[in-house]
Amino acid sequence: MKRSEINKLMREAVAFADKMNFKLPPFAFWSPEKWAEAGHEYDEIRDNMLGWDITDFGQGDFYKIGLLLFTIRNGNLTDKKYGKPYAEKLLIVEENQITPYHFHWSKMEDIINRGGGELVIKLYNSDEKEEFADTPVLVSSDGRNYEIPAGGIVRLTPGESITLKQGQYHKFWAEKGKTLVGEVSKVNDDRVDNRFHEEMGRFPAIDEDEKPLYLLGNEYPAAK
Ligand SMILES: [Fe+2]
Repeated sequence: MKRSEINKLMREAVAFADKMNFKLPPFAFWSPEKWAEAGHEYDEIRDNMLGWDITDFGQGDFYKIGLLLFTIRNGNLTDKKYGKPYAEKLLIVEENQITPYHFHWSKMEDIINRGGGELVIKLYNSDEKEEFADTPVLVSSDGRNYEIPAGGIVRLTPGESITLKQGQYHKFWAEKGKTLVGEVSKVNDDRVDNRFHEEMGRFPAIDEDEKPLYLLGNEYPAAK
C-alpha cells in the first residue's frame, strides 16, 4: 500500500470515529517525532502492537478486500508481564469491503456493530484439515444460541454482536453504509494467530511516497 493511502485512511477513520462519538486514546494521534522520543514507559504500546493497523491483506485493492483496525488494548501471548488476558479493537468496515475467511487458533472474539450500517458475517466450522466443514455452525449472539447451516450468514444491526470461537471460519463486510465495529477478545497476536482460508498477507508492504501521519502498530521505534 502507498503511505499516502494509509495517511488518507487514517484521516478518514479519525473523522468517522469522531462522527460516531467514539474517542480514541492519546497515542492514536502521536507523530513519528513524538514516537522517536517516547521512553520505556510506553513499551506496553510497542510490545503489544497497540494502535493503527491498516491492511489490504496483500491483495492491492483496499476498498474491495481490506480492513482498518485500531488496537486499543491488548495483552501478550508470550510475555505475561502486562497481565492482560484480553484485547479491545475498533474496526471500520466499508460498505462491501471484505475481510476474507480466516479463523484464530488462540483468540476467541466478540464482534460488535457499534453503529453505521449493518455487518454481515458468513460462517463455517473448520475441520481437522483446517478446511470448511459442512457441519451446522453454532451462533452465539447477544445471549441467543442457535444453529445456522454451513456457510450461513448472520447480519448484525447497530448494537448487535456475535461471539466467534477458535476454529470458526469467518468472513465479513458491511452493507447499508460504513460501519463502526468493536472487537472484544482474548489476547490478540496477528503475527501468528490468523489462519486464512486463501493465502493472504496480514501486514502490507508500504511504498513510502509521503511522510507517515501516524505510525502503524508494527512501526514504532524502540525506546532509547
Ligand atoms: Fe477474526
